[in-house]
Amino acid sequence: MAAAVYGQQTQNIVGGSGSIRAVPPDTDQFRSPKGIHDVLPPESGRWVDLVSRFAARAQNAGFGLVISPMFEHVEVFERVGEHTDVVSKEMYTLTDKGGRSLALRPEGTAGVVRAYVQHHPTPPWKVFYVAPNFRYERAQKGRYRQHWQVGVEVLGTDDSDADVEVIALLAGFYADLGLTGVRLLLNSMGDAESRPEYILALRSYLLAHVDGLGDDFRTRAEGNPLRVLDSKLEAWQDVIERAPQLTEYLSTESRDHFERVQEGLSALGVDYELMPRLVRGFDYYTSTTFEFQSMALDSAQNAIGGGGRYDGLAQQMGGDPTPGIGFGAGIERTLLAIDSQGDVAKSQKTLDAFVVDGCGPTRSTDVLVLVGTLRDAGLAVDRAFDGRSLKAQWKSADRSGARFGVMLGSDEASRDAVAVKDMETGEQVEVQRASLAVWLHDKRVNLSR
Ligand code: HAM
Repeated sequence: MAAAVYGQQTQNIVGGSGSIRAVPPDTDQFRSPKGIHDVLPPESGRWVDLVSRFAARAQNAGFGLVISPMFEHVEVFERVGEHTDVVSKEMYTLTDKGGRSLALRPEGTAGVVRAYVQHHPTPPWKVFYVAPNFRYERAQKGRYRQHWQVGVEVLGTDDSDADVEVIALLAGFYADLGLTGVRLLLNSMGDAESRPEYILALRSYLLAHVDGLGDDFRTRAEGNPLRVLDSKLEAWQDVIERAPQLTEYLSTESRDHFERVQEGLSALGVDYELMPRLVRGFDYYTSTTFEFQSMALDSAQNAIGGGGRYDGLAQQMGGDPTPGIGFGAGIERTLLAIDSQGDVAKSQKTLDAFVVDGCGPTRSTDVLVLVGTLRDAGLAVDRAFDGRSLKAQWKSADRSGARFGVMLGSDEASRDAVAVKDMETGEQVEVQRASLAVWLHDKRVNLSR
């Protein structure tokens, strides 16, 4: 189901005064742009479920929602790294009518840090977000030009327990979703003291091995050698594998911090694998970095979430030195990982009831009132429109996936009752209208046992 909507192009259908016509294939202007997809019901029901589970987890851990703008001054995003593909090749930039250079958000952290610097809230500032991001990437299944992330950021503490809290929150979220086959890779990028020494060593190693590996390799090795390490290019892997490792260059302080993070994760029972070559795609990372991968997805797009510390970023945006840590988790990729487990239906919200109007052509307000009362009582209820035939309404009830069909028939109405049909077994009972909401609630409780 997920792949049908955003894994490939589906044919767009537009409606016009009662008729439906397919858009002729050559009118590309009226299709979503390449790599950018609509999310429609019922697939979108899974998004609602995923986002509400994430929000519940984040709020339980003391995080509040932050909504940062979808575009910012281009300089905000340039801080995530001039030498990164996301900034140098993939950013959607624009000039507004006032001549300002703006860019669509390629990732969530920079805007949140900019907001922290601008509003100086009391630290530690713990926020979560649900937001679309835009990157001009080569579009394919699992890689889109607009993708969505749920994420958190914590600003104003360098306590290793904050690292553990953030990583464990993401691990717990995946567990809430029933996602299995996930591995957590962990690394430390060192601090301002340890990194320069490592970069020198790495650069001279890489420059000694440039032969036959192309201009891009040399440019990265000279400009920002860490960007060689996060390449997935097959031809480079041999050299990457034998490269010096950052963990060998950590300062005592960095090593202690990293050890405490590992102890904390182990104490919480969060499994991890140390991955010294894990260099994530932004220049702002310092100290702890991590990535969750789904073993069920293709290796080029198997990162379902990742993050780390960025202790220098606030200062680069003109703020006071402020440590920070967070993660972003791709919604589409997480759902693809769930799909590959084959239990797609599990997380969909189902209707408690579908109300069928059995009173014939004379229209009354009975259905409106009954549906309204049930919804006010907290039940998920739908109905048909347009005075459709009984047969057509029952067909809609069936298609809706509702647990019960509730029919307002004239016979039952004379007894202030309704006919309720169990849509799975076909069994039918009569229930008094006044007690219908309670009856449906009872069934919901019994079913969830
Ligand atoms: P990121 O690794 O670039 O990190 O993205 C986070 C997650 O977004 C990825 O693990 C992946 O699941 C998803 N994702 C990224 N690009 C795409 C794409 N083109 N199509 C589909 N899904 C994608 C960040 O964005 C950092 N801001 C994370 C962070 C927060 N670090 C610290 N705080």
